[in-house]
Amino acid sequence: MAPRPVAWVEHSETRRSRPRIADPIRATLKIFGKGAQLAILAALMHPAHADDLRPYQVVGDAIPKSLTGMPGDAARGRAIVLNRQVGMCLLCHSGPYPQEKFQGTLAPDLAGTGRRSSDGQLRLRMVDASRLYPDTIMPPYYRVDRLARVAASFAGKPILTAEQIEDVVAYLVTMREESKP
Ligand code: HEC
Repeated sequence: MAPRPVAWVEHSETRRSRPRIADPIRATLKIFGKGAQLAILAALMHPAHADDLRPYQVVGDAIPKSLTGMPGDAARGRAIVLNRQVGMCLLCHSGPYPQEKFQGTLAPDLAGTGRRSSDGQLRLRMVDASRLYPDTIMPPYYRVDRLARVAASFAGKPILTAEQIEDVVAYLVTMREESKP
């Protein structure tokens, strides 16, 4: 079991009465059972920290180096982009996928992306598009701080892993054809 947060330990060891923080947990436990209690404890013990991410360096408008030190896999990246649960890209973007119904109209078409941007530029846009477009609606796929309404089980975890980011970047650089009118 991971160490308990310091405040919790202090309370429970220095006072005979029940620590305050345990009361909402007990109440939740009564209502929702053990899963909910564990989720709350996980949130307390594992607040989102940027330390959970691999370090990267932003140079200009790009992250020139692979987050994993390895090139990604374009075929896996394509699958992430097309997946409606994992990448969700087509919620906002359209792309050269005639077979895909209901593509997004909120963001630029992904066709030609690899011609417009370098792999480093695409990496930064994937990691945290808000660094370039402060009010963007595009999710920061590799950021864990400054997020609202994160479920406890996702706290501290980026939307995509470093490997998945590299796979998506590897795929996007291959998208050199503009959409046919
Ligand atoms: C909720 C909407 C949304 C989702 C989901 C989303 N994007 Fe975006 N994306 C945008 C918007 C909007 C922009 C344009 C920047 C801006 O104006 O905010 C953008 C910009 C980009 C750019 C830069 C385009 C350019 O020509 O400069 C790339 C590349 C990109 N998105 C790729 C992706 C990929 C890949 C995914 C899925 C893993 C994704 N986006 C998911 C909304 C979204």
